[in-house]
Amino acid sequence: MQQLSFAGSIQVLILGLGWTGQFLQDLLLEQKVSFAATTRDGRNGTIPWTLTDTPDVSSLPWAQTVLVTFPVLSADTMSQLIEEYTSKKGPSHWILLSSTRVFSADPSDRHTPLDPSLDTGRLPAEHVVIQKKGTVLHLCGLWGGQRQPKNWMPRMNKPESIKGKILTRQLHLIHGKDVARAIFAVHGQFTPGERWLISDQTATDWMKMFLVWGSKEQIDTIEDLRHNDPECREAIGDKGTLEEIVHKGGVKPRLNSDEFWSTFHLKPQEFLEIV
Ligand SMILES: NC(=O)c1ccc[n+]([C@@H]2O[C@H](COP(=O)([O-])OP(=O)(O)OC[C@H]3O[C@@H](n4cnc5c(N)ncnc54)[C@H](OP(=O)(O)O)[C@@H]3O)[C@@H](O)[C@H]2O)c1
Repeated sequence: MQQLSFAGSIQVLILGLGWTGQFLQDLLLEQKVSFAATTRDGRNGTIPWTLTDTPDVSSLPWAQTVLVTFPVLSADTMSQLIEEYTSKKGPSHWILLSSTRVFSADPSDRHTPLDPSLDTGRLPAEHVVIQKKGTVLHLCGLWGGQRQPKNWMPRMNKPESIKGKILTRQLHLIHGKDVARAIFAVHGQFTPGERWLISDQTATDWMKMFLVWGSKEQIDTIEDLRHNDPECREAIGDKGTLEEIVHKGGVKPRLNSDEFWSTFHLKPQEFLEIV
């Protein structure tokens, strides 16, 4: 692995060089920012490291910013990790990645009360990070590189899943390159004890995705739903073609990340094209 690291002092430590980490790595290399990264098996020259119930930080270098890319499902483990690292290596700025799942209200921004009933076990560790003056970044749907929304379409193969998508219509996305820019911005202008919601500020229309990338079966299901399912008929109407319905637009983002981009004086740069 190509990494810029100087003995004992680096700027960014990526705990978990997975999909997001790769985009961040590219940006850090481009910006000539020193960093190191871990994977569980130590592939490609990364530091082999796994977070366990009793965190061992002995193989990790000190970094100004430590980014945890994976879900930590225990408050105690998160707490021990930060305390152990701080006592053995020194104080750092901690960033934990999360999802937007718990922002269920319409609309939601970073100040909207979280919905704990939708938590998949990540919230307790996130509270620890916030309490310890770290930052939690809530990312919406990740795409870029190998992750192309076009390839998600075959998964929508049941009427219930198609119904869910055409009722809400909005898909909130953020490209890996913009996630990397966002993380890098927080590294440069750290915001202790904050949660940020990060999306590309737009909403992609599922209906358009079905029209352009969907199968004949999926389109037939949508036609059936809008004529025969009262909820769908009310939401999208049974008059006109699906093309006309998509053309009318009106699909607005439910998740509002404006405050993130304005605070860090950035704009998202990568947007999905449905062609
Ligand atoms: N998929 C989405 O659309 C989406 C949307 C919003 C938010 N998110 C969240 O965004 C974050 C980044 O996602 P991603 O897709 O970049 O994740 P990813 O590709 O799965 O990468 C996670 C990395 O963390 C490492 N890891 C996992 N468990 C670990 C443990 N117990 N100890 C040490 N390392 C561990 C993995 O190691 P190995 O490389 O060895 O496997 C991997 O390098 C995640 O928290 C994810 O839940 C995802």
